[in-house]
Amino acid sequence: MGKVLVIGAGGVGTVVVHKMASLPEVFTDIMLASRTKSKCDAIARKIGGDRVKTAQVDADNVPQLVALIRTFKPDIVVNVALPYQDLTIMDACLETETSYLDTANYEPRDEARFEYKWQWAYRERFRDAGITAILGCGFDPGVTSVFTAYAAKHHFDEIHYLDIVDCNAGEHGKAFATNFNPEINIREVTQKGKYFENGQWIETEPHEIHKPLTYPGIGPKESYLIYHEELESLVKNFPTLKRARFWMTFGQEYLTHLRVIQNIGMAGIDPILYEGHEIVPIQFLKAVLPNPGDLGKDYKGWTSIGCRIRGVKGGKEKTYYIYNNCSHEVAYAETGTQAVSYTTGVPAMIGAMMYLKKLWKKPGVFNVEEFDPDPFMDALNQHGLPWNEIHDADLEL
Ligand SMILES: NC(=O)c1ccc[n+]([C@@H]2O[C@H](COP(=O)([O-])OP(=O)(O)OC[C@H]3O[C@@H](n4cnc5c(N)ncnc54)[C@H](OP(=O)(O)O)[C@@H]3O)[C@@H](O)[C@H]2O)c1
Repeated sequence: MGKVLVIGAGGVGTVVVHKMASLPEVFTDIMLASRTKSKCDAIARKIGGDRVKTAQVDADNVPQLVALIRTFKPDIVVNVALPYQDLTIMDACLETETSYLDTANYEPRDEARFEYKWQWAYRERFRDAGITAILGCGFDPGVTSVFTAYAAKHHFDEIHYLDIVDCNAGEHGKAFATNFNPEINIREVTQKGKYFENGQWIETEPHEIHKPLTYPGIGPKESYLIYHEELESLVKNFPTLKRARFWMTFGQEYLTHLRVIQNIGMAGIDPILYEGHEIVPIQFLKAVLPNPGDLGKDYKGWTSIGCRIRGVKGGKEKTYYIYNNCSHEVAYAETGTQAVSYTTGVPAMIGAMMYLKKLWKKPGVFNVEEFDPDPFMDALNQHGLPWNEIHDADLEL
């Protein structure tokens, strides 16, 4: 059916190409390219059967990307490198008239800001070139946005209150580790909290608002209000929303480590001089922390991520909770990665499949909730991320 170029050979890239390789009728040709080619080769070897070609590319370098795209000629480029590379990869896609998909919005390196404005600025150029950009196609953003679109389409006349709840109840046995790229992860969780209410964004101190929430099959876990990028597009695309918030669980041990890391300046993103070299503290920290890709072997327990929604249907108030629970051990047995990489990589594969099947193909730049949720929801059930619904229960929020 189609050719796909995947950029980024980390935990998420590993899952994306594993899943794609198992669907030869959809992904006829797969190339995995990244900064370090040996990592691509190791992943391709593990998958076997000559299913995955590999290449070296510096995704900060547009001419290198253009040359690679011109040689391989993919139908779509799946960007699972880092958010810093989003714009250069989009530039290369424009130049070669190739469609694009990612799982995280662009972030400037020198400022921990989570905004779609840089990528939304490509809308007209992608539309005029007749190519598609699918933004935020991981789990959150991604599946949580599709869950919201599905709820709005099938279960509500209007959605009013949205709470996205993200619980990782897994244990990896390390004193401190992050579940995906440490630099990106720590930038995200140490920023100020922010939520949307009655047309305004309300800012909080980091982790200021928290409460225990009960996750199905897991139980109560302290959950912290943080800002998460999908809130920005969801409140635009679902203008009936009166309030939209995002909650994530953190253990006390994790928060204590995080506080110390911040207090001693190791989460800093501004370069400092060390023995005559400029180093960025958070990048140095990444080098000494456990590699998220290596956590899988000993990871036990589950993630549970979903949307708790209140609104009206047929003139009556209604509540709805839709979620997926994913086992770290099952994810590891299938792909050699833990559930956080798995729950991101599977939706990225499904998004690329939606594009190749022409179900999510239209010229322009779109967040995932702007496409028909139904075929994506079916694919989640078929490809390892089944979902559950609870109607008219107490949402706790
Ligand atoms: N939406 C979601 O639910 C969600 C959840 C988790 C993660 N994410 C996103 O998924 C992406 C991947 O996460 P991950 O945990 O897989 O990260 P990771 O393990 O750090 O992998 C990132 C990969 O990108 C490569 N890379 C970095 N800079 C590059 C460059 N300039 N050129 C080429 N390759 C480059 C790295 O190369 P090296 O191996 O040489 O370092 C690495 O292989 C991130 O953008 C993250 O924000 C999204």
